[in-house]
Amino acid sequence: MSYYSIFPKLMRVAILFFLGITYQPIFAQNVGALNAIDLRVEYLENPVGIDITNPRFSWVLTSEERAKKQSAYQILVASSPNLLDNGSVDLWNSGKVISSTTNQIEYSGKTLESRMQVYWKVRSWDNDDNPSEWSDIAYWSMGLLNFSDWEAGWIGFDIPAEELDQDNDLELAPSPYLRTEFETKLESKIERATVYVSAMGLFELRLNGERIGEDYFTPGWTDYHKRIYYFTYDVTEQVEEGANAFGAILSDGWYAGYVGYGRTLKGIIDGERNFWGRKTGVRAQLEIEYADGDKQIISTVSDLQRRINPVQAFNPQSSEKVYNDNENIWVASTGPLRESDILMGETYDSRLENLGWDRAGFDDAGWQPVTWRSNPRGVVEAYPGVPVQIQDEIRAIARTEPSPGTYIFDFGKNFAGVVRLRVRGDAGTKVVLRYGEMLHTDGSLMTENLRAARSTDTYILNGGGDESWLPQFTYHGFQFVEVTGYPGVPEIEAVIGIAMNSSTQQVGEIEFEGDLNWGGPAPLVTQLFENIKTTQFANFFDVPTDCPQRDERMGWTGDAQVYFRTSAYIADVSAFFTKWMRDVRDAQLPYGAYSNYAPIPFQHAFDFSPGWMDGGVILPYMLYRTYGDKRLLEEHWNSLTDFMEFQKRAAGDNNLRPQGGQNFGDWLVVGYNTDKDFIASAYYAYDLYLMAEMAEALGKADEARSYRELFSEVKAAFLEKYLLENGKLTEDSQTAYSMALAMRLYPEEFEQSGADRLAELVIENGSRLETGIAGVSHLLPILSKYGHEDIAYRLLMQTEYPSWGYSVINGATSIWERWNSYTKEGGFMDPTMNSFSHYANGSVGEWMFSDIAGIDINQPGYTKFEIKPLIKEAPFSGVSAEHKSISGMIKSSWTKHANSVTMEVSIPANTTAEVYVPAVSIDVVTERGDNIANVEGVVFNRIEGRYVVFDVQGGQYKFMSSEAFERL
Ligand code: BGC
Repeated sequence: MSYYSIFPKLMRVAILFFLGITYQPIFAQNVGALNAIDLRVEYLENPVGIDITNPRFSWVLTSEERAKKQSAYQILVASSPNLLDNGSVDLWNSGKVISSTTNQIEYSGKTLESRMQVYWKVRSWDNDDNPSEWSDIAYWSMGLLNFSDWEAGWIGFDIPAEELDQDNDLELAPSPYLRTEFETKLESKIERATVYVSAMGLFELRLNGERIGEDYFTPGWTDYHKRIYYFTYDVTEQVEEGANAFGAILSDGWYAGYVGYGRTLKGIIDGERNFWGRKTGVRAQLEIEYADGDKQIISTVSDLQRRINPVQAFNPQSSEKVYNDNENIWVASTGPLRESDILMGETYDSRLENLGWDRAGFDDAGWQPVTWRSNPRGVVEAYPGVPVQIQDEIRAIARTEPSPGTYIFDFGKNFAGVVRLRVRGDAGTKVVLRYGEMLHTDGSLMTENLRAARSTDTYILNGGGDESWLPQFTYHGFQFVEVTGYPGVPEIEAVIGIAMNSSTQQVGEIEFEGDLNWGGPAPLVTQLFENIKTTQFANFFDVPTDCPQRDERMGWTGDAQVYFRTSAYIADVSAFFTKWMRDVRDAQLPYGAYSNYAPIPFQHAFDFSPGWMDGGVILPYMLYRTYGDKRLLEEHWNSLTDFMEFQKRAAGDNNLRPQGGQNFGDWLVVGYNTDKDFIASAYYAYDLYLMAEMAEALGKADEARSYRELFSEVKAAFLEKYLLENGKLTEDSQTAYSMALAMRLYPEEFEQSGADRLAELVIENGSRLETGIAGVSHLLPILSKYGHEDIAYRLLMQTEYPSWGYSVINGATSIWERWNSYTKEGGFMDPTMNSFSHYANGSVGEWMFSDIAGIDINQPGYTKFEIKPLIKEAPFSGVSAEHKSISGMIKSSWTKHANSVTMEVSIPANTTAEVYVPAVSIDVVTERGDNIANVEGVVFNRIEGRYVVFDVQGGQYKFMSSEAFERL
């Protein structure tokens, strides 16, 4: 994972270079102090093939000067970059809009149509009403907006019975290869070539011997009965003049392959695979536009379709041509990919490679006709998320040979992906790769915790010299790879780790100086933060999965909601969650409850659970807070209110826990198990509170009022049942106090005593945790909010069981599912449920940013935020953090000496931060040596506890407090 990947930027420059665009300021007037960068459309940088007809713009403002605000902006949108530059825009000129907003701004120009290429730029006026220079030009294109834009049909290949491996209990079938050839017309230049493609299953498209695009696991995981995504690729550079070959390889994927724990629970739940269909299919449409205005379309079409011409059959008005007998003929065959399944792995027999099958001139005489597939039931839409891509190449740090001929490669960290194999040997030699997270004490691979996931890739050599292979329709969660059957002794570079995950861009980093050096590879909290990042990236795999290794890998809503804030500090998860929230909505049960996971391939014996179903409410709210996204709230509103109606009905007259379903409680708790109904009722109340907030944000005042009223009633019922007269709770546990306080259920007059009791409980427990995934996500934020910063830090630094540190000193390179997934003394926990890559307990990452560095949201989208670091009791001499929010880059670093503190902060232009400087009075605070009263951009606001609080405008500041904690 490269930090702040420069790839998109390079791509943008490449696109603009290709288009011959240069940037020229066109207005010779006072240039304002602002600079608009980082232009996005629907959260994405230069997206291709979107289908939203009023897409939203965003940009980030920077300035060399302090305290600069945007007083107005202007957006220009045109169908060519030249039109933008000469001022005659043809799509939209927003005019000068008086507003400080820089995101969630809707396009409202001319109607956007299928296939359009759109260019835009923006400028911002500063507080002195001086306009900035125009931004760089950004781009997006529209996909296919109407069903009648699709000429392509869905085709597949029915694998001949003799090729199905009957002995194979998994019934894994070879992957189909489909191909066609076409000629471009030579009389005119190719201006643009675009492919639109979707699949039932997974696809890889090939054009003239090359892969199309850099995305894997496309078209992503959805409830295919409800929606199925297509992708758009610009292939102008890949189309050749004259003869071309176009093809696809398909794999079962989530659509028809093994998903979740179906196989482990065989006979208990209804199936192990084929949850959405049995047969894979692809729909691809390659459109070539010529300079003379002609257009050529090469689309997937079966023989039968060619004869009846579906375009005209479905759309009699269409003037589309009828096919000739000898064009656009698709044929299919199997090839080297004998097995490919996400959970089970791939088998590739390179002796069966049809060399040149994806190039023109290949002899496909022996190939079979393709089969026409029925349209999938789901609507076909443009993919709104960030696709899975290769993120990194990871070299093994060690290779061992625990038994003769069995080699184990150690990649040093637990990630998701595959390996690239390099080998040389005799034809028919079979190299088997097995993946695991841990080793047994004898050095052999531990695979018991993978349950029914076979996670094995097999390569059979063709003997042609140096051979290289990368599985691509499967992935594994692993740190170790076992190699057997390798001819000779493999070099350490014979297998290279290939990390794959959704390409959410990293936006957050934090470093701790003076962190506890316990003798491991990195100091304690530094390693913990590394482990959090590693586990997040390994699990953000088209959906936020619980784990990447065993036969599960599902989008559990409970895990996602407790972890969301951490994830959003670390990466830009806006588009990723926009996509997944649709999956959550699609998985909503007919009676209104949100499901425990999304997409939902099978119903477990239970449907929903408190803490999980509530993710349906908590996540949209958090997305709104993080990105200012109200459209998402609107989009989900009906679904949200259906859910609340369900809860109301299920809670009955006593206004407490919604009945029915499952009740996971504080999942995987150690020690005292807080009453599950307590947790359920708390979540119900919290949902009501958040619904009121969201209703208000949407201007739905009546609904806000009624949610608020119901919240008060539920809160009253909750307190009546669980609050004692002395301010304690009947559930006297870390989880109970943390949740009740975080969810605003505590009566104000008892809040502090509740928090004090929480602190006491932690101390009584030896400053160790007594929580599961629900409780722990609120624990540290609540302790520090109520003045128990010292106790919170003690928990963070704890290395005795149960604690985060315990996993670190036991060698963790990732976040474990259980507090004691492994111990040096006791070995592994019960392998039936023991993942070493489970992000939920990494939710402490939130506190690192929100409290140790102190960066937290005040107003949605970080237009106002605070920097309130916890310095006094910190076991660090310094901390340095940055987070690139939707409003720009925020930095917070501090160093402390005995009684003084230096704080360096960076506040994005056009935002305001409340900066909390620990100081005994305002007189001891300076900024770069200047008296704080005279500093531009800084205004004293108030004294709050141990802090002097300043309103700080955009800019970089260095505050110094000479008496930070005590009067000298
Ligand atoms: C998953 C968890 C999930 C839980 C719900 C487990 O199997 O791995 O992360 O939240 O089930 O009970």
